[in-house]
Amino acid sequence: MNLHDRLMGDLSDEELQHLRTSFDIVGDIAIIKVPEELEHRKDVIADAVLEQHRNVNTVLRKTGERTGEFRTATYELLNGDSTETIHKEHGCRLKLDPTTVYFSERLGHERERVMTQVDPGETVIDMFAGIGPFSVLIARNADPEHVYAFEKNPEAAHYLKENVQLNSVADTVDAYEGDVRDELPEHVNGEADRVLMNLPGSADRFIDLAIKHTRRDGIIHYYTFVAKDDLDEGAATEIQELFREHGATVDVTDTEICGHYNPAVERVCFDVRVKRKHI
Ligand SMILES: C[S@@+](CC[C@H](N)C(=O)[O-])C[C@H]1O[C@@H](n2cnc3c(N)ncnc32)[C@H](O)[C@@H]1O
Repeated sequence: MNLHDRLMGDLSDEELQHLRTSFDIVGDIAIIKVPEELEHRKDVIADAVLEQHRNVNTVLRKTGERTGEFRTATYELLNGDSTETIHKEHGCRLKLDPTTVYFSERLGHERERVMTQVDPGETVIDMFAGIGPFSVLIARNADPEHVYAFEKNPEAAHYLKENVQLNSVADTVDAYEGDVRDELPEHVNGEADRVLMNLPGSADRFIDLAIKHTRRDGIIHYYTFVAKDDLDEGAATEIQELFREHGATVDVTDTEICGHYNPAVERVCFDVRVKRKHI
């Protein structure tokens, strides 16, 4: 029975029209949206979610979108005691608290796409690592030589370090708390085979740093937001131009839509191969 049918006796027909039936599950936490019209029914809805999903122990209501440098959202606890959980993905355990850090279970497919591109022995830099899903998955499953992970949000950096331990990849992953602009030059001496730039919206401010630390023929996974109407042949050319302005001639080897920012704007990953550096 779906959530709509389960609530048929509890909500009026009009209330049922406002019900959002799809939601994310991160570990044992369900993250639901309750529109204003159903504010007075939020507890009934949360109870129904708990009842229907035996693996769920906590229900959070998302009350505000992701904002700020740390890309965190706001939530209201509707049911349960703890907002900390362990999410399982591709054989890894990822510990996190969605109320204090960024994490999207919807990016699981994208993480797999990147992970399967990594060749054994690669050096990888994860510039905006969050709680470490890309770094940990790559370290566990792709046999890299080394992964350097950077994260500025102290809460996320705490989980990043814990997840490195939890998944027994401390020999491969070096995790650093702080601004990547300060930390990367201090800890990485040289160039990587692959650099991840998962900070759509602001990654352009760090392109020079990424180029500097990517070897010739290395790959940069550059995440950004693109209006649906602009996602044509010209999009890759604009990325080439952007990288040229920051000091490198590049090829765009792949353009992957990996989520929706809003109905008109997509989250896109451009895989960029560095052909020649001018810096
Ligand atoms: C969109 S999230 C991606 C996190 C992670 N890669 C993932 O897929 O879950 C971007 C992350 O970059 C972090 N961040 C923002 N600015 C930063 C900076 N200057 N240096 C290091 N980390 C930064 C944020 O705190 C956030 O955790």
